[in-house]
Amino acid sequence: MDKFVIEGGVPLNGTIMVSGSKNSALPILAATLLTKEKCILHNVPDLSDVRFMLDILRFLGAAVTFEGNTATVEATTVSSTTPYDLVRKMRASICVLGPILARNLEVKISMPGGCVIGDRPIDIHLRGIQCLGAHVNTEGGDVHATAKELVGTEINMGGKFGSTVLGTGNIMMAATLAKGVTVIEQAACEPEVVDLADFLISMGARIQGAGTRRIEIIGVNELHGAEHNVIPDRIEAGTFLVAAAATRSKLLLKGIEPRHQVSLFHALRDCNVDLVVEGSTVTVQPNGELKSTEIITETFPGFATDMQAQMVAMLTMVSGISVVTEKIFPNRFMHVAELKRMGADIQMDGATAIIRGAKELQGAPTMASDLRASAALVIAGLMAKGTTEVNRVYHIDRGYEHIDEKLKAVGARITRAKGV
Ligand code: EPU
Repeated sequence: MDKFVIEGGVPLNGTIMVSGSKNSALPILAATLLTKEKCILHNVPDLSDVRFMLDILRFLGAAVTFEGNTATVEATTVSSTTPYDLVRKMRASICVLGPILARNLEVKISMPGGCVIGDRPIDIHLRGIQCLGAHVNTEGGDVHATAKELVGTEINMGGKFGSTVLGTGNIMMAATLAKGVTVIEQAACEPEVVDLADFLISMGARIQGAGTRRIEIIGVNELHGAEHNVIPDRIEAGTFLVAAAATRSKLLLKGIEPRHQVSLFHALRDCNVDLVVEGSTVTVQPNGELKSTEIITETFPGFATDMQAQMVAMLTMVSGISVVTEKIFPNRFMHVAELKRMGADIQMDGATAIIRGAKELQGAPTMASDLRASAALVIAGLMAKGTTEVNRVYHIDRGYEHIDEKLKAVGARITRAKGV
């Protein structure tokens, strides 16, 4: 398994082009199953999660190509049974549930397990397809859903940790081919839901209100092929911004969508980070001492849970006390123990991290546990004195396109090597 070896304490300087969004690309790839016709998707990031999804589509019978960030998918027929081994590897594969059900009126998919960021149930997805008229049977770790027809109705996508993002996507996809009108209440408002809706609309779907709490879908008989550009990855962009702020660097990020970054920009400016936004670029530059802060993760447009670990890493070296509370995945703090091994002073109180800014972090061998925790360790490695190893970087390869090469190009001393 690969590891990163990082020599810390070197400021970054240069320009990074932001890749397409992983969390948009995955459901949009699943949505191509809704039509027999060819779909062409641009700005698809070359990530292992994307390749898992393409393998799932191939297994289901689609003809797939992927070259230079453009994916083509033509699903003339679609199998109703998903491949257990592939589906188990990636929780996001649950987003084929809605499209396969809509296309075949039957789907069999293994239930995704929990993962290190916590228990990740799919009860709201299942409740949604039941409301549309599916009969759902869960047995032996599989979900088997069948329907005579899907019929539009009112569906609530809220849960105790907020509205579900992939759940909203699943129901929106299933409802495009349902009979009549579906109204999704408490819909997730994330930009990735809007991007999915835009793609579905370009396929002929009738959807209004994506990006708000109420989405209305008028079912159509069939969808057609379409071409689409995936939105920029707001979390990748945010990770580089935090890396630059944490290492007191000057960095220009190109290809961002500032409207997707409002909460992060606000949080960084609160910490005295200097950001200059112009069109689709943002420049971050050193601006004196960073300030401690308080952050609570929330659904969009609140502060994203996917940026929590990276902010915790940065705040470990900001003098004063910072408080970070996780409201979406209360157990998503696997990075904390590793950061402590590097000298960070962090106390956990339930889903709240209380961070006392240390003078410096010390490089150490560390173990990546999940995607965003790995990104936090890379940031900590860039900040720390000495050498940091981040083992098991396959986690980071799931969601960051060539992160080591992008960082190296702006001056980071980071190399990929064989690890444990
Ligand atoms: N939840 C339920 N029941 C459900 C679905 C969700 O209780 O049926 C709970 C979850 O356990 C969690 C909360 O609701 O506490 C929110 O989960 P959500 O369903 O919104 O998460 P998701 O759609 O499975 C996507 C992203 C995650 C991101 C979350 C929250 C993709 C592929 N994944 O997951 O991204 O953290 O939304 O914004 O879009 C990542 O990229 O590192 C990542 C984990």
